[in-house]
Amino acid sequence: MWILTKRSKEMALEHAELESLVLQRTAELQILSQRLLKVQDEERRKLARDLHDSTGQTLAALKINVSFLEASSQPDSSERAIVAQVRALADQAIREIRTMSYLLHPPLLDEVGFACAAEWYVEGFAKRSGIDVSADFPTGVRLPRNIELALFRVLQECLTNVHRHSGATAVTVVFQQKPEVVILKIQDSGRGISAERLALLRQTGAESGVGLAGMRERMNELTGRLEIESSAGGTTVQATVPLYPAARPPSFENYARAEVATAVQSYQ
Ligand SMILES: Nc1ncnc2c1ncn2[C@@H]1O[C@H](COP(=O)(O)OP(=O)(O)OP(=O)(O)O)[C@@H](O)[C@H]1O
Ligand SMILES: [Mg+2]
Repeated sequence: MWILTKRSKEMALEHAELESLVLQRTAELQILSQRLLKVQDEERRKLARDLHDSTGQTLAALKINVSFLEASSQPDSSERAIVAQVRALADQAIREIRTMSYLLHPPLLDEVGFACAAEWYVEGFAKRSGIDVSADFPTGVRLPRNIELALFRVLQECLTNVHRHSGATAVTVVFQQKPEVVILKIQDSGRGISAERLALLRQTGAESGVGLAGMRERMNELTGRLEIESSAGGTTVQATVPLYPAARPPSFENYARAEVATAVQSYQ
């Protein structure tokens, strides 16, 4: 009897230690993925700047020189026609570099904030995808930089998903700035996600690509929420971010540390 009690106590302790190890590893993984997202953001910002300031400027200089060449060549000559083609190609490359750079990190986001950058992005998305986007971004006060960047990435990823997976012809984007929280909702009228797949995506993040996992991680870091609703009539993704740290629950990292300490203590 005594041996049995001792053994079950040992097993309970081993169980608690294992549980605490899982919590600790989960917290470590979460910190790692948040770091990765930060590194990715920084890389995108750097690439955007390099593309714009370096390749963009080189192409602009090329275009100026080619324009001189065009002006000094014989009118109606075959040389002029070729040089005009080169100028048009340089123009196209400048536009492509600018779009690529702005999509990597829109300068509007730093300069004037989420609402303007989102409006610009949505307009471009509608043109590129042919999907009808109804959106309203009331310009309020500036939000903290990390919140603006997270909201912008959620918008980008959701619209990319709508284009890639939903088959929708229309999407509605709603942005609300309340005293305590900001809410970004993206609702499409596409084919939706099957109930089984949705359950997997919601519960474990299994079946999820980088997109949903990244959005969820960004929300976790801001102690916000990412909610996904889907039916045969379409999919809605809503991101909710509390604006003030006081309104935020303790971070997962601190929560996990506290849980580990309690679990180990209670079996010692
Ligand atoms: N708006 C949507 N309509 C229909 N299905 C969707 C929609 N958004 C996401 N999904 C489904 O959820 C899955 C996970 O999305 P997620 O963005 O995480 O990955 P992905 O788009 O497949 O790949 P990645 O984003 O890593 O390039 C998608 O593969 C798709 O099946
Ligand atoms: Mg995706």
